[in-house]
Amino acid sequence: MTMRPAATIVEVGPRDGLQNEKQIVSTADKLELIRLLLAAGFSRLEVTAFVSPRWVPQMADHEAVLRGTRPDPGLIRSVLVPNERGALAALAAGVEELAVFTSASESFAQKNINCSIAESLQRFEPVAALAAQRGVRLRGYVSCSFECPYEGQVTAEAALDVAQALADLGCSEISLADTIGRAKPDRVDALMHMATRAFGAEMLACHFHDTHGNALNNVDAALAHGIRIFDSAIGGLGGCPYAPGSAGNLSTIPLAVHLENAGYSTGLKVAALQTAETFALKLRMPLATRPQ
Ligand code: HMG
Ligand code: MG
Repeated sequence: MTMRPAATIVEVGPRDGLQNEKQIVSTADKLELIRLLLAAGFSRLEVTAFVSPRWVPQMADHEAVLRGTRPDPGLIRSVLVPNERGALAALAAGVEELAVFTSASESFAQKNINCSIAESLQRFEPVAALAAQRGVRLRGYVSCSFECPYEGQVTAEAALDVAQALADLGCSEISLADTIGRAKPDRVDALMHMATRAFGAEMLACHFHDTHGNALNNVDAALAHGIRIFDSAIGGLGGCPYAPGSAGNLSTIPLAVHLENAGYSTGLKVAALQTAETFALKLRMPLATRPQ
């Protein structure tokens, strides 16, 4: 039997999915969702975000959520951190990966993290130092790598400059994000061509939102450049509260099935993913109308 090449899905539903829900999901429901997701076989999961509860109230219980999950040798639990304070709290709660996030467009950085791109990179310096000191992974996101909800088209050069700055900080993986799901495969092709030359495909991930139904075609464009790490959210939940138009993330089940059909092994069990998806979609319904 020939071994199929691996492709990795980073499940971001508990963070990117739930951060955008109108009603606050209880900590218990978040932990149940994470339990169901882990039963499907993920090795990488974005658990929550250690961000300001004033900015994103949906993630205010970050510490309880992270502490409510268990470390496992086969699992990397990741959390978003915007600054040193978030990093210290996440490390104290036992995280395996810190994910810093900035943007290729100035306007989105201002709206999302209330500072310029350069200031965000400065804030990440102590985060990177802590990650190195404690031996945890450091991931970096480049939001608006293709389009910005406030500025329109973003050049590949702008995305690459920020990716380079994140790599210089010590990020071992850079996730290039189509925050509002506007990229088309030709743009993905062009950016991945340049990014793989600069960093090598192994260091890159793609984070597609699926607002306009392009995400799976964009995955194919990235696969053609050797990218093998893709972010998605169960049930296609998600969006960013500071990015008008950022509807759902690429949905995990269609992504997993697409990758498997293309000959890649994701290590995920689709039946278990379906159970997790049914539960995730229930969380969107008002409590009184939820089926048992
Ligand atoms: P700020 O208001 O400029 O900074 O926020 P601040 O230092 O004045 O802090 C404001 C308040 O937050 C203060 O509390 C701080 O103590 C507190 P107050 O005095 O008002 O009670 N605070 C914190 N609390 C908990 N944990 C922390 C923390 N830091 C400060 N780490 C800040 C600046 C960056 C903190 C804020 O803008 C923020 O938290 N932004 C996060 C926004 C966010 O989470 N957006 C969604 C995630 S990004 C995304 O979805 C994109 C992605 O999916 C990729 C893609 O699709 O593009 C990753
Ligand atoms: Mg996102």
